[in-house]
Amino acid sequence: MILKYGEIIFKSSISVVYEATYGGRKYVVKIPSSKNTCTNEYKVLKMVNGVGGCIQVLKLIRPYPNKDLLGLVFCNYKFDSRVLNTKSDLFLDPTFFRKFTRTILQTVKKVHDKGIVHCDIKPSNIFVGSNNTPILADFGSCAEIENGVYDKYRTTEQYRDPTRIVSTTSLIDGKNDVYSLGCLLYFYFTKRELFTLMIWSSGKRDVLRNRKLTPGRILLSRRRGSKFSHKDVYMLQGLINKMTVFSKFNRISLVECLKHGFYS
Ligand SMILES: Nc1ncnc2c1ncn2[C@@H]1O[C@H](COP(=O)(O)OP(=O)(O)O)[C@@H](O)[C@H]1O
Ligand SMILES: [Mg+2]
Repeated sequence: MILKYGEIIFKSSISVVYEATYGGRKYVVKIPSSKNTCTNEYKVLKMVNGVGGCIQVLKLIRPYPNKDLLGLVFCNYKFDSRVLNTKSDLFLDPTFFRKFTRTILQTVKKVHDKGIVHCDIKPSNIFVGSNNTPILADFGSCAEIENGVYDKYRTTEQYRDPTRIVSTTSLIDGKNDVYSLGCLLYFYFTKRELFTLMIWSSGKRDVLRNRKLTPGRILLSRRRGSKFSHKDVYMLQGLINKMTVFSKFNRISLVECLKHGFYS
């Protein structure tokens, strides 16, 4: 398979993502900037691709070795998260919101059942597939639950479980992702980050000093045009509060999230 490279979709210090074509079909190829960058992602994608049920994960077409770098070829999604996160009003509709976010939660649950914690759940890592279904992407930061891998500060700051800041040696488990998912729900509802980088950075000092940073009492305010009822908002607010509790012990589990009144 020799791909014809197209436009650059995304560029960071870690990787460059190109549009590419092969045999008249459009794909996306991610080329890492250094050796081993995509090896973790490739390993995890092989484990989670093709898992049955409702799993909505990034579809890996094949590895794409390029000199000594391991590139990855993916299915090209209709539009990526940028459209959904900036322009779309789809999240004003509670039926869409519920369906879309429930699918993300169910997908992350399936990933956990495979023994993997995603560790980098945030809006830009959720793509959009056909029929506006969510696709969980970017498995480059994943950790295996079994190994309880020591965390190298993976998740993007504002979405990172504060317990990972207090103790970087505590074991990773599914509840780390639950925190990030709580921040994600907040973002989809309000189109704002729960913590801007500035607030988060100052809050981080509190976490380290007295372990007190607890979002705890998040209040949701509806965006203009929202079709959510007061009850919907109240339920969602309760759920997000439970997902972002500081103490991992008291934090709701993913199974409990899916049984929460907001989804039933
Ligand atoms: N298969 C794809 N279809 C559409 N857009 C993609 C695809 N893969 C990556 N992208 C775009 O590239 C960006 C970076 O990809 P990602 O896998 O998250 O890399 P990184 O690990 O550098 O964050 C995504 O946020 C998205 O905008
Ligand atoms: Mg990413």
